[in-house]
Amino acid sequence: MPCDVQKPCEFIHLEDGAGQAVQLLAYGARIVSLHAPDRKGHAANVVAGWSEPEAYAHDPAYLGCTVGRYANRIRGGRFDLDGEAFQTSVNVGGHTLHGGAEGFDRRAWEPEIDTANEAVTFRLVSPDGDQGFPGEVSVAVRYAWIKPGCLQIESTATTTLATPFNITNHAYFNLSGDFSQPILDHELRINADSFLPIDETLIPIGPMQSVEGTPFDFRERRRVGDRIDAPDEQLIRAGGYDHNWVLARAPGALRLAAELFHAASGRQLTIHTTEPGIQFYSGNFLDGQQTDSSGRRFAHRTGLCLETHHWPDSPNRPDYPDAILRPGHTFRSTTTLTFSNR
Ligand code: GLA
Repeated sequence: MPCDVQKPCEFIHLEDGAGQAVQLLAYGARIVSLHAPDRKGHAANVVAGWSEPEAYAHDPAYLGCTVGRYANRIRGGRFDLDGEAFQTSVNVGGHTLHGGAEGFDRRAWEPEIDTANEAVTFRLVSPDGDQGFPGEVSVAVRYAWIKPGCLQIESTATTTLATPFNITNHAYFNLSGDFSQPILDHELRINADSFLPIDETLIPIGPMQSVEGTPFDFRERRRVGDRIDAPDEQLIRAGGYDHNWVLARAPGALRLAAELFHAASGRQLTIHTTEPGIQFYSGNFLDGQQTDSSGRRFAHRTGLCLETHHWPDSPNRPDYPDAILRPGHTFRSTTTLTFSNR
C-alpha cells in the first residue's frame, strides 16, 4: 500500500470546465490520467497511468510522478559541494537517477486541495541525508488549471543546507489516447538549437552540440519516428531519444519549450517552462512489463516524456546552469502544459 493511513490514497480530480480533466495522486505527487478532447470533441486519456493507486508502489517507469531530489542523472552519485564530497544513492547504471532508490516518486506527499481554483498543492519534507543528499528540503508542487486547457505545475523549495535540487514531472504522453500505439507518428517541435551528447551510460559528455544536420533537429516540427532509428551513435547509445535539449543558459521567464501534435486526432500539447532544459525521452525502456489502467501493456515507445528541468549531472559540471539550492533562497520553477486541438 503506497499511502499510509494518515494520507489519502484517493485520486484527486481537477477539471478546467472546457473538457480537460486531470487525476492526481499524493503518492509521488503524480498525474494518473489526463483527459483531453480530440478535434471531434471526444475526450481520451493522454497520460500513462494505472487505475489502482497500489500499482504505483511497484512502478519502475516513474509514470506521471514528480521526480527528485535531483531529476535525471548524477554521475556515480558523486559530487563535491563547498569542498565536501558526497555520495548519493546509486540506483541505475552506476549513477543516481531521479533522486536515488527512494526518490520523491516513492513518497506520500501531503495534499492540500483548493477546490475554488481547481488546484492542489502537494507538500513533502525530505530529511537531511535523504538518499545521501545534504540538508532538510521542504518542497511544494502545485497543479492548477489556470485557464481552459492549461495545466500549470509550479514548484518551490527551501533547504537548511546547500544541496543539488532539480525536480520535474515524468508524465508519459500519447496524444492518440491509445497506449497500445507507438508515439512514432507524433510530430514534435523543440525550441532549442543544441542538445547534450551522452556517453554509453546516458551521462552528458563534452560541451553542448548544435542540432544542425542531426536527428536531434526538432526546430521545425518533425515526426518522432522519422529518424529515431537512424545509424547515429547518440541515438544508438540511448536506444532512441533520451537527451537534454538546451532551452537556456539559466532559469528565466516562462518560454516555449516544445509542441507535440498528433495529426490523426488533432490533439496538441504545448509546453512552456522557466527551466533551462528539457529531456525528450521516447519511452525506449518501456518493455511491455507495465500495463495501463485497462490492463493493456505499455510496450516499447508507446509513451514519451518531455521533462523540463536543469541539465543532467549539473552538480559535476561548473559549465552547466547552477543547480545548487542554498539556505535563504527559494527554488522556483513553473511549467505549463496546454492542451488544444485542431
Ligand atoms: C528518464 C531518463 C530515462 C529513463 C526514464 C525512466 O526519462 O532520462 O533514461 O530512466 O527516466 O525510465
